[in-house]
Amino acid sequence: MTQLHQVFDSYEEEKWLAPELARGGEGAVYPLQDRPNVLVKCYHKDYLQKSGSAQLENKVSAMQSVAALRNWPGVSWPLVSVYDQQQQWLGYAMRRAVGVPMHLMAHPMLYQKHFPNLDRRKIVSYLINYLQQVQALHCHQVMLGDYNLQNVLCDPHSDKVTLIDCDSYQLELNGQLYPCPVGSADMTAKEHLGIAFNQIRRTPESEAFSMAIILFKCLMLGRHPYDIVGGADPVSNLQQGNFAYGIGNKGVPKGPWYNIWSHMPHRIKSLFIATFTEGAGQPNKRPTLAEWEKSLAIYANEIDKGWHENAIKPAAPKGRDYQGDSQRIIQL
Ligand SMILES: Nc1ncnc2c1ncn2[C@@H]1O[C@H](COP(=O)(O)OP(=O)(O)OP(=O)(O)O)[C@@H](O)[C@H]1O
Ligand SMILES: [Mg+2]
Repeated sequence: MTQLHQVFDSYEEEKWLAPELARGGEGAVYPLQDRPNVLVKCYHKDYLQKSGSAQLENKVSAMQSVAALRNWPGVSWPLVSVYDQQQQWLGYAMRRAVGVPMHLMAHPMLYQKHFPNLDRRKIVSYLINYLQQVQALHCHQVMLGDYNLQNVLCDPHSDKVTLIDCDSYQLELNGQLYPCPVGSADMTAKEHLGIAFNQIRRTPESEAFSMAIILFKCLMLGRHPYDIVGGADPVSNLQQGNFAYGIGNKGVPKGPWYNIWSHMPHRIKSLFIATFTEGAGQPNKRPTLAEWEKSLAIYANEIDKGWHENAIKPAAPKGRDYQGDSQRIIQL
C-alpha cells in the first residue's frame, strides 16, 4: 500500500493529503490535509488500466457537470478532478459524508452495537430518506445500478442518509449513456441477468426491483427475499419469482424473521409480494419508488400512533386478537 502525499488540481496547484482514510477495490480515499471535510478518491493504477482511464475520466467529468447534484446534501457527488504532477488524471474530490454504513443497520447482530436504541420507526425513517435521495438522482437521469448497503451512510444524529461511491452510477447526459459497470447478480433484476454490467441500461423498473431487495433486507434483519429455507439459491429463486413470504408463507425462516414478517403491515407486505412474485418477471408490475415512499410514510405514521410493533425483533408473531386498527387484515 503506497501512501500518496499530494495531488494537483487542473491549475497544477498542489493539495496535501492526510493519511489514507479507507480504500475499496477501485480506489483509495484521502482527506485533504487542510480541509478534512473534503475527500479525494484516487483510483488504483491497475484499475485505471483495466477499465480505461480516459473512459472513466470522461464519465466522472460528465458527472461533475450536473450542477444540481453538486450541492445535493444526500450524495457525495464528484466535484473536481485531481491529477498527479504530470497532470495525469488520478480521480476526484468530493464532500466527506458522516454516518454508519447501512449494512450494519441491517445486520442481525451488529445493529445493536452500531445503532443503539434502533427501532422500526428509525429504520423506516432512514429508508424514506434513502428513497428520496434515489428519486432525486432519477430526476437527473442518474440510476444507482449497483445497490449496496455499504455505500449508504446513516447519520446517527438524524434520519438522513448520504450516498457514497457515486462514480459507479449510470448517468445519461446530452444523449450519451455512461453505464454502471458493476453489480451483483442477487441484487439485479431478471431482465438484466446474464448481460455484462457495462452493457446494461438500468431503468426505473430495474431500480425499483433492486431497491425493494434493499428495503426487505433492512426491514428483515439482513435476510435476502429469495433466500428460502430448503429452496434453491437466491438467484434461481429470483429468476422464477419464487418468494417464500407470499401466500402460504412456505419457506419463511423460523425465529425473528417469522415474527417480523408477521408484524409487517399488510400494505408493505403487498408491495413486497407484488415486486418479488409477478414483478420478478414483469417490470411494469413492480411498485415504484414513489409508492414505496408513500407506503413507508404511512407505516411511520402508524407506528407513531402505536398501531404496529416497533421492536426490531418482536418476541412473538402478531396475535389474532390484535386490536390496533379495526381496518387491518389479520394475515397469519
Ligand atoms: N464521501 C465519503 N465520505 C466518507 N467516507 C467515504 C466517502 N467516500 C468513500 N469513503 C470511504 O472510503 C471507502 C472506499 O470508497 P469507495 O467505496 O468509493 O471505493 P471503491 O474502491 O469504489 O469501493 P468498491 O470496491 O466497493 O466499489 C468507503 O467504503 C468509505 O469507507
Ligand atoms: Mg466503487
